[in-house]
Amino acid sequence: MSDSTSSARQFNAHADQYAASEVHRSGPSLPVLIAFAAPTPDDVVLDVATGTGNTALALAPCVSRVTGLDLADGMLAHARDRAAREGIRNAQFQIGSAEQLPFPDASFTLVTSRHAPHHFRDLSRFLAEAARVLTPGGRLVIADQVSPTPHLQPWIDAYQRRRDPSHFAQRTALEWRDLAERAGFRWAEETLVPYRLDFAWWTAQSGSSPEAVQELRKMVASLTPDEQAAIGAEFSTDGQLLAHVDQMMVVRLEKQ
Ligand SMILES: C[S@@+](CC[C@H](N)C(=O)[O-])C[C@H]1O[C@@H](n2cnc3c(N)ncnc32)[C@H](O)[C@@H]1O
Repeated sequence: MSDSTSSARQFNAHADQYAASEVHRSGPSLPVLIAFAAPTPDDVVLDVATGTGNTALALAPCVSRVTGLDLADGMLAHARDRAAREGIRNAQFQIGSAEQLPFPDASFTLVTSRHAPHHFRDLSRFLAEAARVLTPGGRLVIADQVSPTPHLQPWIDAYQRRRDPSHFAQRTALEWRDLAERAGFRWAEETLVPYRLDFAWWTAQSGSSPEAVQELRKMVASLTPDEQAAIGAEFSTDGQLLAHVDQMMVVRLEKQ
């Protein structure tokens, strides 16, 4: 299945749950991303893979205008409704791909993407496109989940994909840095924000079948204690998986 088909299908099917999710609407990576972005009234912003507009609409009151781009029209419909409800007039939303941004060169001063690049099939292409549409000195601010080690990445990708087939790759912070520097960005500031995800909520939100839930539980049980600690797995006293912790990397990249 292609990138666009897989992500658009997954997110269109679960757009209502996503729009209602507090973790995504105002979860702890959002204020960190905004602090790293340091938005100003002159900024012209592109929010890539905007979904229901959580990041775009948080930035809108601080900037000149913001465009939210996403593959899933069902997610964008929620973003437009919310902008109208909240009286936000300087935000617009349109369909498009992170790997082929439908904008001229140097058209934005700030590009953001939150909780989304792990869906992108070609991260280098997205980074090159972000560099292309930014003005010289522009900022790219990312919040996305990273793997604690390269060793755990294949397991994490299989675990995440079993729950959400549109998951593609949960890269390490080091791989991110390498790819970003190759695309011509300076790695300016970085931090990790932990997200504790309740297992029952996390699987219900994506509509996981009872079989998928059992498989996910077995996958976590198959890890060594050190590996379970690395993904922040928590168990009840009778050994039931309760939660795991995703590490959200927030980073500001500056176009050289
Ligand atoms: C988890 S949501 C993130 C939403 C939002 N950024 C936020 O802060 O809540 C991921 C979004 O990425 C979109 N997406 C996935 N791959 C994409 C791509 N290659 N280009 C554009 N959007 C993409 C999906 O349609 C989905 O709406």
